[in-house]
Amino acid sequence: MLVAEGEIAARVAELGRAIARDYARANPVLVGVLHGAVPFVADLMRAMPIDLTVDFLRASSYGAGTTSSGTVRLVADLAIDLADRHVLIVDDIVDTGLTLAALKRTLEARRPRSVRACVLLDKGGRREADVTVDYVGFTIPNVFVVGYGLDYGGLYRNLPYVAALGTA
Ligand code: IMP
Ligand code: MG
Repeated sequence: MLVAEGEIAARVAELGRAIARDYARANPVLVGVLHGAVPFVADLMRAMPIDLTVDFLRASSYGAGTTSSGTVRLVADLAIDLADRHVLIVDDIVDTGLTLAALKRTLEARRPRSVRACVLLDKGGRREADVTVDYVGFTIPNVFVVGYGLDYGGLYRNLPYVAALGTA
């Protein structure tokens, strides 16, 4: 066990308050990244007592999740137009940052007013892409984790806590 259910709940409530303060009256679009961010988005948006819109996309995960052009292929795209909107990408975890950096570039091309990012977990030590993560739940060591949306081979997303996937 790396992050207990109660710790997640407390931190998500804090993040929600902070983000709601920053986006008060902005009617932001929360862009959840399927499938890993589903529990996080569900909890985070309920901790934000402001007007907001939520939508989801699914990014491909071949290679590092990016093409040489630095854009990410969307297996499922958003339904709503981001033009003139304040966009907050919500993802489960940032590791190398390549996926998030590419996703940011892809969404920035749609002429939003702003694009920021919020992740539950940050494996800070492994960053390869120069990407700003504006809101971070927890910084964790470089271990493979599952639970609260994060999977290993499609399993363990339903765990209510975050655990390191150990071999022992
Ligand atoms: P990045 O492009 O290296 O930042 O990769 C981020 C993506 O890799 C995340 O959105 C996850 O889908 C996946 N990922 C990275 N680390 C883990 C982990 O520890 N457990 C499960 N998925 C992970
Ligand atoms: Mg992911």
